[in-house]
Amino acid sequence: MKYDPQENNCPLPYTPFRSCVVPRPIAWISSIDDKGNENLAPFSQCGIITFDPPMVMFSANHYPTGQRKDSAVNAEKNGWFVWNMATEALKDAVNISAMIVPSDQSEFELAGLAKVKADLSDVPMVKDSPCQLECRYVSTTVVQGNGELGTVDVIIGEVIRVHINDDYITPEGRVDIDGIRPIARMGYIDYTVINNSFSMEVPMTEEIRKIMNEIMAGSANKPVTAGEEK
Ligand SMILES: Cc1cc2nc3c(=O)[nH]c(=O)nc-3n(C[C@H](O)[C@H](O)[C@H](O)COP(=O)(O)O)c2cc1C
Repeated sequence: MKYDPQENNCPLPYTPFRSCVVPRPIAWISSIDDKGNENLAPFSQCGIITFDPPMVMFSANHYPTGQRKDSAVNAEKNGWFVWNMATEALKDAVNISAMIVPSDQSEFELAGLAKVKADLSDVPMVKDSPCQLECRYVSTTVVQGNGELGTVDVIIGEVIRVHINDDYITPEGRVDIDGIRPIARMGYIDYTVINNSFSMEVPMTEEIRKIMNEIMAGSANKPVTAGEEK
């Protein structure tokens, strides 16, 4: 089958688009407003933009009334947000934190989550998340969609501090993703657990490998493996 989204001619009962780009990681974003109210919400329209310096983005749809999401407004006003890793062990809390509640109601309390203050701002982080990225707000790009609901604030942040629970660092010094069991979105109301990794390296000549390693050694980032890998 094929269809054209702008023609609204999809023959399937539910839109398949969001199942065509999977699995999508979940940016579990914590932030605070100018009164200090804390906020936590999951965003699967998200990802890494670049690695040097490390930068991330998440995309917050407007409400049908035109109101913007607290996570986007807070990041802009306060200048900081935290990307907490969403895991299978925390999946119910992730879901509860997506509830639409007044700004002065804490999703941390609603979901019964322990929190710890970020190092670089007053933003609370999810204590039991194995990985947290403290992000300094960089910019907002409003991408106009069909109506308010299709319109998004694309929030970009630079990762200034990375926290990883030592329990999930392997003896070889790698992040134990299969042990962490992150969750990701699959379209509809479906999720997957990441617990089945495999490795492969892009083939390259020794000469190219040497050049790549020299470039990576000169940057703030260490090579991921012997070769360049993203
Ligand atoms: C797994 C998951 C992923 C979500 N992804 C997005 C997203 O990418 N963009 C968005 O606007 N809302 C997304 N939502 C809905 C928001 O989490 C929800 O609207 C939340 O209440 C926004 O909170 P805020 O106004 O406190 O920022 C998602 C919900 C779930 C459960």
